[in-house]
Amino acid sequence: MDHTIEHTDKILEVENLTAVYNTDAGVVHAVNGVSFSINKKETIGLVGETGAGKTTTALAIMQLLPERTGEVKSGSIRYRGDELLTKNKAEMRLIRGACISMIFQDPMTALNPLMTVGEQIYESLAIHNSNKTQKELEPRVDELLELVGIPARRKINYPHEFSGGMKQRIVIAIALACEPLLLIADEPTTALDVTIQAQVLNLMDELKQKLSTSMIMITHDLGVVAQTCDKVAVMYAGEIVEYGMLEEIFDPNRPHHPYTIGLFNAIPSLSGESRRLKPIDGLMPDPANLPEGCRFHPRCQECMECCKSGEIYQYENGTHKIKCNLMRKGENDGRAD
Ligand SMILES: Nc1ncnc2c1ncn2[C@@H]1O[C@H](COP(=O)(O)OP(=O)(O)OP(=O)(O)O)[C@@H](O)[C@H]1O
Ligand SMILES: [Mg+2]
Repeated sequence: MDHTIEHTDKILEVENLTAVYNTDAGVVHAVNGVSFSINKKETIGLVGETGAGKTTTALAIMQLLPERTGEVKSGSIRYRGDELLTKNKAEMRLIRGACISMIFQDPMTALNPLMTVGEQIYESLAIHNSNKTQKELEPRVDELLELVGIPARRKINYPHEFSGGMKQRIVIAIALACEPLLLIADEPTTALDVTIQAQVLNLMDELKQKLSTSMIMITHDLGVVAQTCDKVAVMYAGEIVEYGMLEEIFDPNRPHHPYTIGLFNAIPSLSGESRRLKPIDGLMPDPANLPEGCRFHPRCQECMECCKSGEIYQYENGTHKIKCNLMRKGENDGRAD
């Protein structure tokens, strides 16, 4: 493993990010000390069950947490070395779209039903190209539509005139209108059927190559991760419990977090061998009332006494990290050399 890769061309560095929602029912600890980094052209997958804190992490990066309740408590979010958490609203508005774009979990809410798709792509272009005229930008609208596989002549149509898959591709066109260096895609294909899903993923991969975009791919689908990601962060109850390069996370001969193993057991085997699907027993803990010790311990079949309280052991082998007390005794397992 070439460790220098970790330190060159950093686009985003998230360090010890902690975010909460202050609600009437109490403080929801949605993101608890998350750290990861993304290099140029790299895609990281944020995976985990519903409620793991994936969307909250993305919203914190974009500074789009709900104003009244959402709050970044601590940590650092550096975009090309520049701290985002100290930026004001105007500065963040420029960064969003011009540098970092997000495809939201529900594409239908991202589109304005009262504007043609051409107008919406144009608007996204215009915000960050105020020195250019509409005439200058219009060819770019056509180009973007064609890029996502929609004939430019359809720019005069409204969102409801497109199928779900086409709408999602239009959302991608809008997100890419400013050629962001970083694209955050929150479950971009969850609402789509399998064929369209494959088309959209292929398209995003093509665009990534073409525009050298880095990406955060948020998904609960390990198949999507395998297809699109270079790196993976497995999230559970607001924490990254396992982090590594794609090959490391998908290597059955390496040690893994029991939660990661659980996620893999819950999907059909990629190699096609028949295996019984076994979902992880129990539910994600309530983030307003997280368990002591390892957050996963109430559901973990290998839970030990030491997992029920105190600090949890952090295993590290090059780029591969696992937060689990089981790794303490298995420190030398799965070493590459
Ligand atoms: N606006 C909010 N107010 C209060 N709690 C919230 C809010 N948004 C999210 N949460 C809570 O924060 C936790 C993390 O939610 P988040 O949306 O980040 O999860 P997720 O990993 O994106 O899940 P999913 O896969 O379902 O999209 C959950 O327990 C959720 O209920
Ligand atoms: Mg989400």
